[in-house]
Amino acid sequence: MKKWTVSTFKAAKGVRKLGCCTAYDACFARLADEAGVPCILVGDSMGMVSLGYSTTLPVSMQETLSATAAVARAAKDALVIADMPFGSYQCGDDAAMANAVACLKVGADGVKLEGGARVCGLIRRMTDAGIPVLAHVGMTPQSVNAYGGFKTQGKTREAALQVLEDAKAVEAAGAFAVTLECVPDELAAEITAALKIPTIGIGAGPVCDAQWLVMHDLLGLNEGHVPSFVKRFANLAADAKKAFAQYVDEVAGGTFPPPRRGA
Ligand code: KIV
Repeated sequence: MKKWTVSTFKAAKGVRKLGCCTAYDACFARLADEAGVPCILVGDSMGMVSLGYSTTLPVSMQETLSATAAVARAAKDALVIADMPFGSYQCGDDAAMANAVACLKVGADGVKLEGGARVCGLIRRMTDAGIPVLAHVGMTPQSVNAYGGFKTQGKTREAALQVLEDAKAVEAAGAFAVTLECVPDELAAEITAALKIPTIGIGAGPVCDAQWLVMHDLLGLNEGHVPSFVKRFANLAADAKKAFAQYVDEVAGGTFPPPRRGA
């Protein structure tokens, strides 16, 4: 398999649908990469599934950089995208540029930003500087406080048109792909048909050019609430608990470790 690039990712539109996922460390990034996942997002979902926060908002730039560096060291073929955390691109474009540059310095192939028309100036500046940008419209989790919860967006025709306009705007600003999160399937289909760049859906139906799943959901590592659109492709939480419990029992029962002859 050859290294995925922004160009090969874009060229897959209409040719092959791409199953993409998140990862936050070298161990799982290597597994996903070797399994053929074309694009790994070091998502700020890390805050919720791995760092124990109830939203993505507390994730810091330092946490993003160390996770991105680990993923980039392990992923040989996948495109590695760093998800810029809340606060890293809302406090001025110069600071945002410096943070995006830092993501590429530790090995990311590009960055992801949430927002439509309002972040287009930044998308243009980043792409002009050679930083590939993956946009994110629809339900943008960093706006959870503005929404009053994680809620499907674009449900009325007026709201749908706003999401469509945002998607067109980020394409015009130079984004190489756009994430559509939690929008009605019909709207995702309309946007996918209207854009030349790939759409990557999560909770946006089957018509998108690619899909995201958060790694912990995909692997069944999450025992709490999972969104209804998630499919668990494994049940690693149960397997891990069983293994931990057996280990505890075997140590307590004296069967592990066995005696080492001659040691
Ligand atoms: O942080 C994340 O995992 C994401 C995906 C849901 C697209 O932004």
